[in-house]
Formats: sequence, structure tokens, C-alpha cells
Amino acid sequence: MRRVSFSAPEWIRCVRNGNSGDTEAMHKIEICNDSFALMSQMADGSYDVIITDPPYAAEVQENMCSGSLAGVKSVPKYQLSFAPLTQRHWIVDAVRITQRWVISFCGVEEFGRYQDILGKKYVRGAIWAKPNSMGQLTADRPATSYEGVVCCHDLDIKKRWNGRGSYGIWFCNGTRGLRDRHPNEKPLELCLKLVSLFSERGETVFDPFCGSGAIGEACLRLGRNYVGLDSDPQWVDRASARLSTDLESVSDEYALGLCRAWGR
Ligand SMILES: C[S@@+](CC[C@H](N)C(=O)[O-])C[C@H]1O[C@@H](n2cnc3c(N)ncnc32)[C@H](O)[C@@H]1O
Repeated sequence: MRRVSFSAPEWIRCVRNGNSGDTEAMHKIEICNDSFALMSQMADGSYDVIITDPPYAAEVQENMCSGSLAGVKSVPKYQLSFAPLTQRHWIVDAVRITQRWVISFCGVEEFGRYQDILGKKYVRGAIWAKPNSMGQLTADRPATSYEGVVCCHDLDIKKRWNGRGSYGIWFCNGTRGLRDRHPNEKPLELCLKLVSLFSERGETVFDPFCGSGAIGEACLRLGRNYVGLDSDPQWVDRASARLSTDLESVSDEYALGLCRAWGR
């Protein structure tokens, strides 16, 4: 088995002040050169919930465009510094090391692949719809104005979430155009929605591919403990700095009201 460097950092305890009162949560962020391998070595049920965003498959990752469509004929492609996803078996470990939900961003083409691997532990393929997506530059096929969110759960524990009978489709602009962003940075509103839907105050959320720490910020604002890992030291520093700033807490009620186009 491949050895993984991971130094198990100290928790950082923080109290956030907000309209809904004080919220206490702890976080730690660390460099891990291979979170896939690390998860295979972790004990069963180590975390309450995983909410994460691993690399995407090559066909998605290698075609990501940067910039905006305004006034240009072709938009430069992003050169990502990390390898695309080549295996999906990490999801088996993710469900094993988690007590409740595993929520992972993915291309919608991944839904069936994850379902084949997980069987009944695959619960739902949900959709993040992005109204500000770019159109299809080649104009020969439908543009993807959405990403997948795969929702998985162990079979031994009864499933529950905070969305009651609501839909697995969430509307939120992407972070395209945001200055100095991580190339895959997820919008804070969407992260607040997912954290409030799938976890409870006081639980610990594990994010083995944390990038800019957007999911971590949502966790701390909502009073969830957060453990984030990333292979890129620059993004570990940036995420740590992001989570160490003065962030106002928000209520679950507020977060659950975000990203709805219709219904609850
Ligand atoms: C899709 S991005 C996450 C973006 C993040 N959700 C955000 O909002 O900024 C995936 C991240 O995983 C990291 N990564 C890629 N392969 C990894 C690996 N094997 N182990 C740990 N981190 C990895 C990359 O450095 C990248 O920051």
C-alpha cells in the first residue's frame, strides 16, 4: 500500500458571532499528497459526514475553459495542476469511513459509474444548475450548465436529511469571474445549502479535496467542525487563511432557504 504523508494537525477552535447568536466550531486543514490512499487507511466511521469535491474525469477536467465569452472567439483552457480522476473506488472507502452521508461533486456522467460500484449505498444523483454557465463554444451540442452531486449513505444507519420532501436540484451561479479564485472553487451559497441539508450542528464534516476551503467556510459559519485536506500546499495555506478570518455565523434556516428555484 502506498504511504501517505499526513501529520494530523491540531484542532483550531473558533467562535463565530452572527445574527443567530454565537457558534462554536473547530477546524483543521492539512497537506495530504494522496487523499484517495489516505481514506483507504482510515478507520470505519471516522467522520460524521463527507462533503467534498474531488478531481473530475479527464473529459471534463481537460476541457475546462477560463475567462468569459465577452468579445472573444475562443476562451483559453485551464491548465490544472492536479491529475484527473481515474478510479471511482475511493467512494467505497468514503462511505465506510463516514457514519452518515457522503456528498461529492462530479460530472453527471459519473452517476452510473458510482451506482455500479456502490449498489444500494448510492442514494441519488442530484444536480447543481448554474445559470451563469458559458454557452457551448462549438455550437454543435448542448452546453453543460450543470454539475452532478452524488449522494451516498451506508445501509446500516437510517438516512435523514434536513430537506424534508424537497428536490435534489439546486440553482446557484458558479464562481466564474471571481478574482483570484481556485479554478474549481464552489460558490459559498451552494456549500451552505449542502452543509445545512446533510449535516447537523456539532457534527464533523470531512473534505479530503478542500481547494479554497469553500465547504470549510460554510461548515464554520454553520457550526460544523471541519477537516480539510489538499495535495497543493498553496491552497492549503489559502484555505487556512480563509477559515481563520472573522466569519459571521449563519442559521440553518437561512442556509436551507438558499439555491431554490421552486418548491421548498
Ligand atoms: C475540484 S478541486 C476542489 C475545489 C474546492 N471544492 C473549492 O471550492 O475550492 C480538487 C482539489 O483536490 C486537490 N487534489 C487533487 N488530487 C488530490 C489528491 N490525490 N489528494 C489530495 N488532494 C488532491 C487539488 O489540489 C484541488 O485543490
